[in-house]
Amino acid sequence: MTSYTIHENVHEALHNYEMPEKLGFGLSPGPVMYSVSYMDGMWGEGVLEANRPIQIQPSAKVLHYGQEIFEGMKAYRVDQARANLFRPERNWQRFNRSAKRMAMPEIPQQLFMEGVYLVTAYSEAIIPAASGQSLYLRPFMFATEPSLEVTGANQFVYMVIASPSESIHAGTMKVLIERNDTRAAIGGTGAAKTGGNYAASFASRQRAMALGYHQSLWLDPVNKKNIEELSVMNFFAVIKGELYTPALTGSLLEGVTRDSIIHLAQSMGVRVHQQPLNIDELIRQIQSSDCSELFCCGTGAILAPISALGEYDGTEYQVKYPDGKLSLVIRERMLGIQECRLEDPDHWVEWIPEEYYPTA
Ligand code: COI
Repeated sequence: MTSYTIHENVHEALHNYEMPEKLGFGLSPGPVMYSVSYMDGMWGEGVLEANRPIQIQPSAKVLHYGQEIFEGMKAYRVDQARANLFRPERNWQRFNRSAKRMAMPEIPQQLFMEGVYLVTAYSEAIIPAASGQSLYLRPFMFATEPSLEVTGANQFVYMVIASPSESIHAGTMKVLIERNDTRAAIGGTGAAKTGGNYAASFASRQRAMALGYHQSLWLDPVNKKNIEELSVMNFFAVIKGELYTPALTGSLLEGVTRDSIIHLAQSMGVRVHQQPLNIDELIRQIQSSDCSELFCCGTGAILAPISALGEYDGTEYQVKYPDGKLSLVIRERMLGIQECRLEDPDHWVEWIPEEYYPTA
């Protein structure tokens, strides 16, 4: 049985909400948020309320030891009255894998989804309706236990916030090969969706942006030879008409979009290889045009073609199809399913159960 509270300020928040003129990605908070606490080994009762600043103690463990995990999901409402989700159980499963790695409590599917359902259902009217736009949903959990003791916390809060958004990158990207720093260690937290992985990527991203690139391309932490991912996205190459993506090594994130693309490409008759991708070998294949296309993907970014890889010394490797070719076909197929414009043979689309909608 579901048991949660809808705070009385929710309706006013929805009524007063003004859609931002420029959406961008994750720039403007939606009107409502969901939260539920965990204490003494038990989850409490969830609350949906108006979006507001939250209070935690300055000694809350998340602020000192980074015990935090999150997910990225989207609700779509393109040319339809009701909002839909895309493979949400995958996000719940990954959330719990991240929780385990970060010594945090796993969350029951029903509770994880309750937050996602309530925030989506109550925000439905403000979900932007153009193709490529969505309500970006951010479920997250953090340690609130007020103690500087260096042990895993025993108090946590799980929350869901949202932001009406466009995709992270519209158009083609340029990517800088990061040959110095690495993102995650073998046996580390690279496969967990935890804030520290992203914080560890910012210095490199800043250097990349200063050189005119959009993202850094991370290499493996041992030999700095095999491609891993791009922090906010997984990486793909089209080589001789077949798709290649780095195998999951434990130090890169298992993307829901990555998995969906592999599946869709296979269903289109494209061979997909999940294996180590050596950067120097790939550069040779780009130069010989055996590699005709590169792209990256993620929930926020959907799928973006990569026009070129670059080095810190200014060398650039341009791909044959800088704006994508096969990648655009896959993107359209996936986005079409996500936005309910195309048939959904694998039943990836899910609807919000009626009981979570506000009563009139
Ligand atoms: C997403 O694509 O949803 C992500 O989680 C990546 C980034 C926005 C942190």
